[in-house]
Amino acid sequence: MIVDERIVTFINSMETENSEILEAIEREALDTNVPIIRKEMQSFLKVLLSVQKPMCVLEVGTAVGFSALLMSEYLPDGGTITTIENYKKRIPIARENFKRAGKESMITLLEGDAQDVLKTLYREYDFIFMDAAKGQYIHFLPDVLRLLKSGGLLVSDNVMQDGTIMESRFGVERRDRTIHARMREYLYELKHHEKLITSIIPLGDGVALSVKR
Ligand SMILES: C[S@@+](CC[C@H](N)C(=O)[O-])C[C@H]1O[C@@H](n2cnc3c(N)ncnc32)[C@H](O)[C@@H]1O
Repeated sequence: MIVDERIVTFINSMETENSEILEAIEREALDTNVPIIRKEMQSFLKVLLSVQKPMCVLEVGTAVGFSALLMSEYLPDGGTITTIENYKKRIPIARENFKRAGKESMITLLEGDAQDVLKTLYREYDFIFMDAAKGQYIHFLPDVLRLLKSGGLLVSDNVMQDGTIMESRFGVERRDRTIHARMREYLYELKHHEKLITSIIPLGDGVALSVKR
């Protein structure tokens, strides 16, 4: 945890409940150890979507569809979500959850490795939520930038890697060095890319909020 636990507990104690279906899917995901966005990130997304009012959202990393369903409740009428997942066991559960929520026509799930799937997409998105394998964000970035509309938002979750991101290469376990180096490179790109303005925020496990010029 990168933020004082008592502060997080206090902030979360202020949270209001989500819709019944979201509460149920969140509980099921947590009971089965499926990683989903934390409460702090849920509120952050709700605020961003309410300000940005995106018609086309792209998500990389569906899991069982919790965040896609949460986002679907904060889009303007006619808004759509495309979400990508490659873990075969989670795909039918996500599809079933979209059905339970009556959102099959609003949310399109694309199956496969995001690195391949992103290359097949050609429409522009005004909001992209990156929540997949952290070591691959840097590889997704060229396509994500191509797909992001000018003025669009890119939200990248879990960029602090439990705080280890600030350690030197030798301060992290040998097995974590590749992912550590790739996330550092990703954050550097987000901060220095001529087309992006980025703020790195210590919320949850760290979120990078970027807007495309
Ligand atoms: C943290 S979970 C997503 C949680 C989801 N956004 C939510 O909050 O409800 C990350 C998901 O990304 C998927 N994933 C990881 N690497 C991927 C890739 N290269 N292509 C597609 N999906 C990927 C994983 O299988 C996992 O289900």
